[in-house]
Amino acid sequence: MVLIDGKALAVKIQGKLAEKVARLKEEKGVVPGLVVILVGEDPASQVYVRNKERSALAAGFRSEVVRVPATISQEELLALVERYIQDASWHGILVQLPLPQHIDEEAILHAIDPKKDVDGFHPTNMGKLWSGHAVMIPSTPAGIMEMFKEYEIALAGKRAVVIGRSNIVGKPMAQMLLDANATVTIAHSQTQNLAELAKTADILVVAIGRGHFVTKDFVKPGAVVIDVGMNRDANGKLIGDVAFDEVKDVASYITPVPGGVGPMTITMLLEQTYQACLLAGEAGSQ
Ligand code: GUN
Repeated sequence: MVLIDGKALAVKIQGKLAEKVARLKEEKGVVPGLVVILVGEDPASQVYVRNKERSALAAGFRSEVVRVPATISQEELLALVERYIQDASWHGILVQLPLPQHIDEEAILHAIDPKKDVDGFHPTNMGKLWSGHAVMIPSTPAGIMEMFKEYEIALAGKRAVVIGRSNIVGKPMAQMLLDANATVTIAHSQTQNLAELAKTADILVVAIGRGHFVTKDFVKPGAVVIDVGMNRDANGKLIGDVAFDEVKDVASYITPVPGGVGPMTITMLLEQTYQACLLAGEAGSQ
């Protein structure tokens, strides 16, 4: 079994990115800027946002986290987003999810300018991805594709099963695998005989959000297993969706939690912000 070291790959890519950012600053006097809007005090979101900011600053980006109370109205939040859309010095805007109940998440995501939508959640960007003309793409599946590349894991002709159908991970992951010529099935909580189906996969991506849900009974010997899960066990310890200790003996490649997909998600977010900055430059809006 080979452990896919997402942390090490993230460090490597972020190092290269820092060099590209420094060069851009030197040659064009432009610094990519990422603004993250955090509504409320969800503990997990606070940790994610802090990590995003830390990585952005370390790679030489401009970074701002706008923290607003959970009581903010939808109009106020839309106005805040609009302010950063209008400000050309910010190239990427990310509104951390989940949002409080009273806010229409879709309305907020639709309001973000697709050119600054570094999450790739705007319907224009989702549509472009599905039609094979991706510009901004969701960071988590993008990070997983980088892992396949780094470890030279062939996808063409392989059978891929994605467990989870979220807009953030499952659906864009399926499209990226399809684009790489895998044969893809999307499974979810209502799929019948899920373990049996998962066991047909050469590539198994798990993003179902249930701690240690995937046991060795779900995994074909020699399969590549990617764990997107971030769950807390009864003791508050971070655990994945895959029962790592038993699956590692069956899989050919496997990602750990933590240190697998998570660091790559942040890396790809920064990469997208850098790309958004370059695109803005080409459009002459800097
Ligand atoms: N919440 C959990 N993951 C994500 C993500 O990738 N982007 C945003 N905006 N919110 C999230």
